[in-house]
Amino acid sequence: MRKRYIMAPGPVEIPPSVLSVGGLPMIHHRTPEFRKSLLEVLEGLKYVFQTKNDILIFPAAGTGGMESAVINIVSPGDKVLVAACGQFGERWAKIAETFGVSVIKVFAEWGEEVDCARVEAELKNNPGVKAVYTTLSETSTGIENNIKKLGEIVGKTGAVFVVDAVSGMGAVEFKTDDWNVDIAVVGAQKGMMIPPGVAMISVSVKAKKAMAESKIPKYYFSYEQALKALTKDKLPDTPYTSSVSLILQLKESIRLIKEEGLENVWARHARIASAVRAGVKALGLKPFALGKPSNSVTSVWAPEGIDGDAVNKKIRDEYGITMAGGQGKMKGKMFRIGHLGYVDMFDAVIALAAVEMALTSMGAKNIPLGAGVKAVEEELLKKV
Ligand SMILES: Cc1ncc(COP(=O)(O)O)c(C=O)c1O
Repeated sequence: MRKRYIMAPGPVEIPPSVLSVGGLPMIHHRTPEFRKSLLEVLEGLKYVFQTKNDILIFPAAGTGGMESAVINIVSPGDKVLVAACGQFGERWAKIAETFGVSVIKVFAEWGEEVDCARVEAELKNNPGVKAVYTTLSETSTGIENNIKKLGEIVGKTGAVFVVDAVSGMGAVEFKTDDWNVDIAVVGAQKGMMIPPGVAMISVSVKAKKAMAESKIPKYYFSYEQALKALTKDKLPDTPYTSSVSLILQLKESIRLIKEEGLENVWARHARIASAVRAGVKALGLKPFALGKPSNSVTSVWAPEGIDGDAVNKKIRDEYGITMAGGQGKMKGKMFRIGHLGYVDMFDAVIALAAVEMALTSMGAKNIPLGAGVKAVEEELLKKV
């Protein structure tokens, strides 16, 4: 038998109480019983998102949520700005271009943060920009962007501010309304701690105004239809069949988040992330993040002469722990340790033990066994 762990930046491990809800008998999605749960989930999500805006839930991957935030807001020929610093940020540009939208690319080098001053300058030079798309926690590089600052900049313009919070929500500080975020897109399988399959999207009044002018054809992902269903009578509804079991699981995971308190959730992630970073540093490994490191994932350069994917594969196949390799142009050059959602302090100990053992057995030089784990323990003890 091998005990298996997921230490990837999503999907994440599921808390036992959330898992058990997934095994309950099916109920019909048009019943008052289900719609009462949907109401509770939507209200709970407002707390997690820190918003008073309407929230829509589509059965979809996070990328479906991203696509919806393009096709409902802009029109072919419109100009948008994409502020990216990695694979997922750059995905916004690919989606927009797929629908004939013209993209101003403010792309940072991978490992750096989005440059807020460049965004501000481009918005001044291009007063007609309809929307600005960016990423809260860039999972491919392990960077957290300054959404508060970007929200101040975009909030002074007519552009709709859209944030991919797929791997950041429920892990790092995020305040939709205080930070002027018009649309936040969130996925299921990360900080929300449920299996993959639903995208959650908050929509501000400013976004709704843009929506009314958008000319990209849409059917399944129509915000107009989804908003109508939300408010058609006393209990919310969805235009098409809801992901019943996932929504019931979401109700339980939101209950867990509320019970802990959102600020404590953020603090737990910060504590575990700083322990993982201390462990990596103690092993003499080079962190990939040059900008603000995300508290949901730590990206590490593979040591000289060692393939990052091979490290990842060894840890998965021989130790039973699924981490992540490099994405896109970083394939083979790094490995990534996810620490989000259902994580606690001893996950950091396990992660560093696995990294030390894998690198040592692969012949990496100067990896003192136990040094990473010791640094993790020391960092965790500082904050107990
Ligand atoms: C920041 C970010 N955005 C978008 C996505 C895409 O989500 P999905 O794979 O569910 O489409 C991910 C998934 O890893 C992500 O981490």
